Amino acid sequence: MENEPIRTTDPIPIDFKKKFDLSGKVIVITGACGLIGRAFCEAVAQFGGHIVAADIALANPEEFARGLQERHGREMLGVSVDVGSKAEVTKLRDAVLNKFGKINGLVNGHQNKAQSFFEPFEVYGEDVWDAVVETNLKGTFLTCQVLGTWMAENGGGNIVNIPSTYSVVAPNQNLYKGTSLGCPAAYSASKGGIDALSRYLASYWAQKKVRVNMITPHGVWNNHEAQFEANFARFSPMERLSYNHEVAGALIFLLSDASSYTTGDNVLVEGGWTVW
Ligand SMILES: NC(=O)c1ccc[n+]([C@@H]2O[C@H](COP(=O)([O-])OP(=O)(O)OC[C@H]3O[C@@H](n4cnc5c(N)ncnc54)[C@H](O)[C@@H]3O)[C@@H](O)[C@H]2O)c1
Repeated sequence: MENEPIRTTDPIPIDFKKKFDLSGKVIVITGACGLIGRAFCEAVAQFGGHIVAADIALANPEEFARGLQERHGREMLGVSVDVGSKAEVTKLRDAVLNKFGKINGLVNGHQNKAQSFFEPFEVYGEDVWDAVVETNLKGTFLTCQVLGTWMAENGGGNIVNIPSTYSVVAPNQNLYKGTSLGCPAAYSASKGGIDALSRYLASYWAQKKVRVNMITPHGVWNNHEAQFEANFARFSPMERLSYNHEVAGALIFLLSDASSYTTGDNVLVEGGWTVW
């Protein structure tokens, strides 16, 4: 199902724009209704893809998918799912296959911000830790296992997982001074697991033509408190937060033939945060 690259040294007959085309591709996006998920869905739809918007029932992914379908005049699907449940992820796979008969891509954009998410490490509750790890890491494992295995057994596909800057470097605690925000260890640890899992699967499934890559967003603007935005600017080479639409360009690259020789990579969309 994945296109074979053309064996040539002559670039002239290559249609480079077409390499980015996602027409007819069925792309499952978890956390589709979230801040970054919404931009992912819109971008993939603009490049021709059929979106399967997967999110918890509370986010109403069915309604969200209907909006996408109307805007783009193309079949889309919304599915309520808890990615931490294998039974629900299996139902998601079956719903996608029922409607479209295939899966070309999987994007894991979910995250759990459990109650008490920002508690200090010294008193962090086991239940909060479990909830964060269960959704972030186990959820990514399950979607890769259930949907990725289908792609591996059916000619290949693309997986894009989302770790975090804080699986690459530790959070600078000065960033949070004077704000109500923070970054708990459970988040970093769950994201570190996603990073390792993604590299593992990139190697494990390379011969099955399933490419597995990552995008690391950073500081995506969401009406943050002013003090946080000011602190962020001091520590960022680009002196600003990012916007959700700025993360989506990397997704088009990774889901399309434009990245046909890229696997196991982590595209950092972090404004240079980790270069100094
Ligand atoms: N926003 C940032 O600055 C930033 C930075 C680095 C990494 N990330 C990562 O990017 C991804 C998207 O971030 P975001 O800011 O859009 O997050 P968000 O909180 O806006 O969206 C997350 C979505 O996941 C959904 N979700 C929660 N639990 C779920 C479950 N059990 N099953 C299915 N869906 C579930 C939520 O309903 C929500 O729609 C996350 O993995 C996040 O960790 C975000």
